[in-house]
Amino acid sequence: MKLLVTGGAGFIGSNFLEYMLNKYKNYSFVCIDSLVYKQNEKNLVNIMNYSNFKFIKGDITDKTLIDNLFEKEKFDCVVNFAAEIAVDYSIENPNVFIQTNVIGTAILMNACLKYGVKRFHQISTDEVYGDLPLDSRKSFTEQAILKPSNPYSASKAAADMLVLSYYRTYGLNVTISRCTNNYGPHQSDRALIPLVIKRALNNEPISVFGSGQNVRDWIYVYDHVTAIDLILHKGVIGEIYNVSGQSKKKNIDVIKRILKLVNGNESLICYTEDRPGHDLKYSINSKKIEQQLKWDRKYDFNKGIHETINWFLKNR
Ligand SMILES: NC(=O)c1ccc[n+]([C@@H]2O[C@H](COP(=O)([O-])OP(=O)(O)OC[C@H]3O[C@@H](n4cnc5c(N)ncnc54)[C@H](O)[C@@H]3O)[C@@H](O)[C@H]2O)c1
Repeated sequence: MKLLVTGGAGFIGSNFLEYMLNKYKNYSFVCIDSLVYKQNEKNLVNIMNYSNFKFIKGDITDKTLIDNLFEKEKFDCVVNFAAEIAVDYSIENPNVFIQTNVIGTAILMNACLKYGVKRFHQISTDEVYGDLPLDSRKSFTEQAILKPSNPYSASKAAADMLVLSYYRTYGLNVTISRCTNNYGPHQSDRALIPLVIKRALNNEPISVFGSGQNVRDWIYVYDHVTAIDLILHKGVIGEIYNVSGQSKKKNIDVIKRILKLVNGNESLICYTEDRPGHDLKYSINSKKIEQQLKWDRKYDFNKGIHETINWFLKNR
């Protein structure tokens, strides 16, 4: 089996590649990544020398490059991680999100149809469902209406719609996974958990939007990766799978927890003006993947956050 992993130099993609390369020695993997952030290249150091791995620096929106790559490599499967993901940046500059997250996905799927690729898996997010009031006890299932709140989540929702339409219209064998907030090794310090770890270790101020009451459901990246592996091998074509961490926490509680674990001082926390349209709470139901594919998590927040802090301490 030959897989194309787009955005594989990023946080989740590089963890996926490490896991898959170690598990499936007889598969081959090509990673295409435009290295929006140059430093992502270092996420591939552990696997760069594998004989069944190849890295290509390139943009998924470059149709000629993608067509040539597909024609040459004859992939069996594409897993699309490549995306712009920073919500704040999407508010300032939505066009680049539409270009990569929507047009890029279409270019990849068109190449799948043109060159006979049998399988396309789209990495999506729980953010496509929109948010819930802080006191809500509801969780979105895969059937929930999509109600994204910002250009990032709207571009991911648009891509999901396009993926499902390629299944219905052209018969492309697609699956979609919608996962909650990831944390773990290789995550950039533009994200909350690595940022707080770094600031706490350097004794620097830690900014929190609003009063920090917003709730996110945290999953250790390893558990997300095993869910994708399972969907690729046992998922039903045309289906969407929610992947939840079952670990909902207020942002302020995550920050205080990390400060405690690294002996940081809570006086480092400073409250700033809230982000426009800031989603209050995410909550999804992932019974479908748990019951139908027998997926389960290996990490609770306690175990995952210890692993993450240790990794950042070793890789400062
Ligand atoms: N981080 C999370 O908590 C989370 C949760 C759920 C879903 N997701 C989804 O997982 C995927 C990966 O997210 P991540 O956190 O690893 O992000 P990341 O920014 O670490 O990785 C994304 C990678 O895509 C690459 N990329 C961006 N635009 C590209 C383009 N036009 N062509 C080729 N490569 C391009 C970037 O260089 C980067 O290496 C995204 O699709 C995101 O929507 C992320």
